[in-house]
Amino acid sequence: MTTRTPVRTARLALTALAFAAALCGTAGAQGTGKLKVGLMLPYSGTYTALGVAIENGFKLYVDEQGGKLAGREIEYFKVDDESDPAKATDNVNKLIKRDNVDVIVGTVHSGVAMAMAKAAKESGTVLIVPNAGADAVTGPMCAPNIFRSSFSNWQPAYAMGEVAAKQQGKKKVMTITWKYAAGEESVNGFKEGFEKNGGKVDKQLTLPFPNVEFQALLTEIAAAKPDAVYAFFAGGGAVKFVKDYQAAGLNKTIPLYGPGFLTDGTLDAQGESAQGMLTTLHYADGLNTPRDNAFRTAYAKSFKLQPDVYAVQGYDAAQMLGVGLNATKGDISKKADFAAAVEKAKIDSPRGAFTVSKSHNPVQDIYLRKVDGKENKLVSTAIKGLADPARGCRM
Ligand code: PHB
Repeated sequence: MTTRTPVRTARLALTALAFAAALCGTAGAQGTGKLKVGLMLPYSGTYTALGVAIENGFKLYVDEQGGKLAGREIEYFKVDDESDPAKATDNVNKLIKRDNVDVIVGTVHSGVAMAMAKAAKESGTVLIVPNAGADAVTGPMCAPNIFRSSFSNWQPAYAMGEVAAKQQGKKKVMTITWKYAAGEESVNGFKEGFEKNGGKVDKQLTLPFPNVEFQALLTEIAAAKPDAVYAFFAGGGAVKFVKDYQAAGLNKTIPLYGPGFLTDGTLDAQGESAQGMLTTLHYADGLNTPRDNAFRTAYAKSFKLQPDVYAVQGYDAAQMLGVGLNATKGDISKKADFAAAVEKAKIDSPRGAFTVSKSHNPVQDIYLRKVDGKENKLVSTAIKGLADPARGCRM
């Protein structure tokens, strides 16, 4: 038998208090309360339109669910990352430490996304990447709490390499891109697909991100006369590059290929200069499925804009969050259950249903598209169910 001393009574009271506090904590996380979503996206600079489309897509899905996921109302916190890797760690910590968000959605730029992945890994905050293709995010940096709703830089690039060699019969190709992770990885993916099928990447041209002084490099291309050029640019930079390529007269003799970012969300501005271009991507105009048609109608109605691949990726980031939250009854702190649910889900995307690999990247069809008027029209499925090799991911 034990007697209750004053010290023991005090200890018991403290334990009871701690237990009650823990219960409250759990109840909060399970969230009867609002779920805080941190949107870290470019709202300035060359990728602005991409950030806006991602936010629109994300909010469209949430609004379709009545503004709630797994019964929790969504509250948004926003940071403009300016596509600047030097500011990325400070910016992501505004969401993690200042705003104390439950989940981060971002971003577009691969260099910024890698800093976000590092911070997410350290803090344990769930991160869903709705664009940036940095191979490392679902490669060496992969983690149970990091997911991607978009693509790896390798995926559309590898497919274009195959198309250029096998279908278009090109032998010698020059590449041009911004010198940062996305451009470099895109060129590497293209080179892998192209050279495996008998082509040769001849020369790799680069300029710093987000520069658009292309003239000297276009002169170099004209002099070298490759069979084709493969280019990775996106947003405002893609508009300028495709127009400059045509203005230099190069498109008449040297076909310009790229991952679909070169012509997605940009055709209004590119006009005549992009006509007939072939690109590969995990989305296309004219899929004409009931799922995509419904999405496009809803998007156009809400935002008075046609959706593009970025809008789809934002929409699907919200769908993936919904899948994880439904499985955990809204309790995002149950990371293992959240991840298991996403890993076994089939995401009902406007692009076509996709699954999520063990490394948390979409396993998806890559389409070949051809620019026709204001559309990236579906030509064919270049590669079905393409999975990123996830080199270096140990999970
Ligand atoms: C990237 O930096 O990973 C990136 C940016 C824009 C795109 C695609 C990839 O359209």
